[in-house]
Amino acid sequence: MSDEGPAAELPLAGGRTTSGVVRVGDTVRRPVRAWTASVHAVLRHLEQAGLDGVPRVLGLDDDGREVLTYLEGDTVGDALPWPGWVTSDAVLADVGRWLRRLHDATADFVPAPGSVWFAARGWEPGLVVGHHDAAPYNAVCRNGHLVGFVDWDGAGPSSREFDLAYAALTWVPLLAPGSAWPVAVPAPAEAHRRLHLLLDAYGYDGDRSAAGRAVGARARRGAEVTRQLADGGDPVFAALRGQADDLDRAAQRAEEQPPSFWQPSGG
Ligand SMILES: Nc1ncnc2c1ncn2[C@@H]1O[C@H](COP(=O)(O)OP(=O)(O)O)[C@@H](O)[C@H]1O
Ligand SMILES: [Mg+2]
Repeated sequence: MSDEGPAAELPLAGGRTTSGVVRVGDTVRRPVRAWTASVHAVLRHLEQAGLDGVPRVLGLDDDGREVLTYLEGDTVGDALPWPGWVTSDAVLADVGRWLRRLHDATADFVPAPGSVWFAARGWEPGLVVGHHDAAPYNAVCRNGHLVGFVDWDGAGPSSREFDLAYAALTWVPLLAPGSAWPVAVPAPAEAHRRLHLLLDAYGYDGDRSAAGRAVGARARRGAEVTRQLADGGDPVFAALRGQADDLDRAAQRAEEQPPSFWQPSGG
């Protein structure tokens, strides 16, 4: 209608940070950070590659925020307990297939010199781009299937295993019992089954014990980054110190798994 004012800004729930992410019509507005330009190059590459389930970059708004397309679907938001799709085998397999498409689509991505990333390693030949935070709290689902992932702030150069590791930690999940996590930690046999469902859906034909080592490394890195930001006075990350402890315990648990845990049944 012609007499409508500017579209309303609707706060979006489910972020782990008080980052001021809002929805405006079919768009999302997010604050620009040091790595935003580098991440936009990734998102544009994915648009070119035709990977769906990825917010498209529309530019910056008058307030200097990034403008992305809104992915229609269900998110966990503030729901507790988390919705059933978080633990469904169907979505777990979708996550594996979607990560495979992300990694394949970025195998030929070469970041501009001087690219800045949140916490990712520097690019070198052979790396792909990982989302690095492809967890239930950043997933969008529709009709019981994964649409894709939002919140690309952590994206950057990665090995395939390192990015898969965070999905394994948060979707299987491979956390330690007693972690502050909205989903129960499965017993070892069920964790084994779901881990290899994820890796099979990815089509992971590498050495699965290497994938296992990546789980420990990814969990330790997450703990380290969280503590560094907390020590630097970031109030959001100060509140996440407990999560850093959970990640360290997840790393220890991964490192203590028998070798058979990382091998598919009969493999
Ligand atoms: N492009 C998007 N499409 C749909 N929902 C989004 C989009 N971006 C963010 N959201 C929703 O807003 C929540 C918070 O945004 P997110 O980008 O994850 O910020 P934070 O850094 O706070 O985690 C997400 O968990 C999701 O529910
Ligand atoms: Mg988020």
